[in-house]
Amino acid sequence: MSAQEPRTVTVTGAGGQIGYALLFRIASGAVFGPGTPVRLRLLEIPAGLKAAEGTALELQDCAFAALDSVEVTENAARAFDGTNVALLVGARPRGPGMERGDLLSANGAIFGPQGAAINAGAADDVRVLVVGNPANTNALIAAAHAPDVPAERFTAMTRLDHNRALAQLAGTLDVPVASIGNIIIWGNHSATQVPDISHGVLTGADGAQRPLPDALAEALGGAGKVATWLDETFIPRVAKRGAEIIEVRGSSSAASAAAAAIDHVRDWVRGTTGSWTSAAVLSDGSYGVPRGLVSSFPVNSRDGAWEIQQGLSVAADVRARIEGSVRELEEERDMVKSLGLV
Ligand code: NAD
Ligand code: LMR
Repeated sequence: MSAQEPRTVTVTGAGGQIGYALLFRIASGAVFGPGTPVRLRLLEIPAGLKAAEGTALELQDCAFAALDSVEVTENAARAFDGTNVALLVGARPRGPGMERGDLLSANGAIFGPQGAAINAGAADDVRVLVVGNPANTNALIAAAHAPDVPAERFTAMTRLDHNRALAQLAGTLDVPVASIGNIIIWGNHSATQVPDISHGVLTGADGAQRPLPDALAEALGGAGKVATWLDETFIPRVAKRGAEIIEVRGSSSAASAAAAAIDHVRDWVRGTTGSWTSAAVLSDGSYGVPRGLVSSFPVNSRDGAWEIQQGLSVAADVRARIEGSVRELEEERDMVKSLGLV
């Protein structure tokens, strides 16, 4: 494909907070590069249409060179027709008194039909990123309704958790974010997720590399202090950052979620170099995660496909945490199975 051939990107929930932070960056060329024209399709439900239409007007007013067209629709078949990248952001938020089963059931009614519409009309190379929560299991539901699309094209976002972890580490070590590589988010995009620094690498200004645990031991005053800091500060801070943002901001993360979605799709389309990153992808059984779950792994992107980084040693405490997060994913899967959603 020539760099100039237009790409179609569908964003659901386009009238919402994340949509507003996401669309302008896509239109400016942040995913495919400024030389590739983008056709945007904005999918909303009636309550969100006006907001999406307003966003479309503003997109026009930016006069982005890479923006080929913007279309707002409430018709999923139209929204996904010929789409190359589908960002499934719109989801049903948890309301008062709603149990997890109610939430999964409400989201099944969204992600099932959207998966079917992707199956019916998307481009052969379609790539899907689910952002709407519970993201991993919503991806599972959408994939189950798209039997003709390779299941590995359905992914869920843990890049925000990865970026949050990078930022916490950079702040603690007082180093640039870009100097830290090879950290991992395992499991579910929920409070059970497992931020793991054991394979992390720190690159100094002189290009010399050293293990991140060693750098942390030096900064915190010994290896024992690192273990305590990981357990009591770093892991809970990253895993509960979504709740912290909601508490402080009064609504859930939006610009940072949009930035992470851009990072995920850009790397998927254009490839990763150097460090791996984290994404929730279809498990092939790697690291003991049951096949068929959409779980976060260390991943590299090559030739437009995510590949799980193989061969990493996993310490017993990290493995136990991963098992806990995977159990939660299995429970969610079993619940949507019992509801007939997958
Ligand atoms: P929001 O409420 O501001 O916007 C959601 C939009 O989705 C609304 O405009 C709504 O009308 C629309 N919508 C609902 N059902 C739809 C459907 N069937 N089709 C199309 N549009 C539909 O919410 P937001 O802040 O933009 O967040 C969106 C989702 O992303 C939430 O589920 C949130 O929990 C999740 N989220 C995930 C991450 C992550 O890291 N994976 C991070 C932040 C937020
Ligand atoms: C986040 O990680 O910021 C969100 O998933 C939180 C939420 O519940 O919307």
